[in-house]
Amino acid sequence: MNSKEIRQKFLDFFMKQGHKVVPSSSLIPDDPSVLLTTAGMQQFKPYYTGEADSIKDFGSFNTVSIQKSMRTSDIDEVGDETHNTFFEMLGNFSFGGYWKKEAIRYAYEFITKEMGLAISYVTVFRGSDIAPKDEESKKIWRLLGVADVREEGINDVFWGPTGNSGPCGPTTEIYCKNGKRRDVEIWNVVFNEFFCDSSRDILLNGGVKLKQLKKKGIDTGMGLERLTMISQNVENIFDIDLFSPIIKKIEELCGKSYEDNAKNFRIIADHMRGSVFLIGDGVLPSNIERGYILRRLLRRSIRYAKLLELPENWHKEIVKTIIENYKEYYPELEQREGEIINAIKEENDKFCKTLERGLKELGKIDAVDAEKAFYIFQTYGFPFEMIGEELKKRKLFIDAKEFQEEFKKHQEKSRAGLEKKFGGHGLIMDTGELKAGSEEEIKKATKFHTATHLMHQALRVVLGEKVRQMGSDINAERLRFDFTFDRKMTPEEIKKVEDLVNEKITENLEVRVEEMPYKKAMESGALAFFKGKYPEIVKVYSVGKFSKEVCGGPHASRTVELGKFKIKKEESSSAGVRRIRAILE
Ligand code: ALA
Repeated sequence: MNSKEIRQKFLDFFMKQGHKVVPSSSLIPDDPSVLLTTAGMQQFKPYYTGEADSIKDFGSFNTVSIQKSMRTSDIDEVGDETHNTFFEMLGNFSFGGYWKKEAIRYAYEFITKEMGLAISYVTVFRGSDIAPKDEESKKIWRLLGVADVREEGINDVFWGPTGNSGPCGPTTEIYCKNGKRRDVEIWNVVFNEFFCDSSRDILLNGGVKLKQLKKKGIDTGMGLERLTMISQNVENIFDIDLFSPIIKKIEELCGKSYEDNAKNFRIIADHMRGSVFLIGDGVLPSNIERGYILRRLLRRSIRYAKLLELPENWHKEIVKTIIENYKEYYPELEQREGEIINAIKEENDKFCKTLERGLKELGKIDAVDAEKAFYIFQTYGFPFEMIGEELKKRKLFIDAKEFQEEFKKHQEKSRAGLEKKFGGHGLIMDTGELKAGSEEEIKKATKFHTATHLMHQALRVVLGEKVRQMGSDINAERLRFDFTFDRKMTPEEIKKVEDLVNEKITENLEVRVEEMPYKKAMESGALAFFKGKYPEIVKVYSVGKFSKEVCGGPHASRTVELGKFKIKKEESSSAGVRRIRAILE
């Protein structure tokens, strides 16, 4: 079956069972605590919690969708049999309409009858301290004649929550065999019966008590690419009809065969497809957040395009092929074709200049040594494979293993450095490919860090001591701060906080640091916020007499360095938690 038929079959099947078809939401989610849309259920979060009414909005308890999704945690695996960054997720959902018996039966019927595929095995939740074993699902599968039911733990078969809080619950997963007779997970059927008021990380670390949702809900997700791979009986996700036009186009452009260069082809195909969809939803390359993800995808594509010696303007042809492939389902891509091509061209030109500079440096090397090669790699974002190629032209060879060791050394150093520098405040600065300018960015982030302390104290002065830090995220462009408070701040309160912070900045207060035992720090009234455990001896940063916090640093030395403080946005982050974004002008 081709992917077009599969899409239609899925929607038709669930429509027949009373589901309303809902279009895909954007890759940029509504929930500000999540960078990208990673699952079909994200747009439906308020329907599970009862904040929104599905009968009112959809005329049904049940919906079905094909959702644009993006997951980058496995970006380095792309090129193997089953990993993509961008993918489409087929999903059926119910908000109080049906439960396990129907959800499992629908999935079983769709796979075995509609698709005519064999289920290899399924998994169910074996139970843990937070939720009991899922006996019911096991029974349902057995009654349907699926004998191989395997029990798994919370890491594998317990979904959610996405973002800072949300619905969650045990899942059952369906595995089928691909063309190589290997088992591949294709469908995840989630039973959302709980609400979790913390993030998934905190849930997995224990100590969270789940609340029962008033109405139980169903959330399922099946990757269209994986299902198509099983249906077309091929062994690789890139061998399906959704990718073959892109692969063919790359072959045509470089005159090299896919067989001999499979991994490079696949990375370009995956990353370019993801980039087209991201730009189509309004993301542009930058050094932070979504923009950084896009930049990473594009720069990786450009590197591999160079390795394959694709001609200038290669991206234009590939973008056109991708849009041609998808415009029927995502008309926004065709509408923004010009914008997409321009954004990619700009990034391509920028990155090529960086590479040129690296090439010049490389030209100066006359004896090869892994340390030097690594310097070029990290300063210019010059890919190792390309360094090897360049040097080979001059009959110089470099040992990949030695290079890897340099890389590892560097990674450990930079990780330790960042942890020391930014302590509990998660700084987004995965600089792997963006070394140039990073000192500058650290300087900017350092100022935001001091501004965060000032704002935290100012919030406590203006709103009261019930304000407690819930999260902080700092990068070179802004600070983001989550804190406990039960309502929207008034414009007057926002103004008061800004004024107080700016007053303290103009007073040019000195920032001092002292080391002391944690107990003493607490007795001295220092504020503390850490996710993990405190070490025995902690650093306490004071800004004049105004603020005092336990913190890992670093900070500006005097407040006047900060410039003018401005709150850009105050909004809800989750129940009882507000979020502020602020900048320094
Ligand atoms: N939300 C579930 C997933 O994405 C179905 O796997």
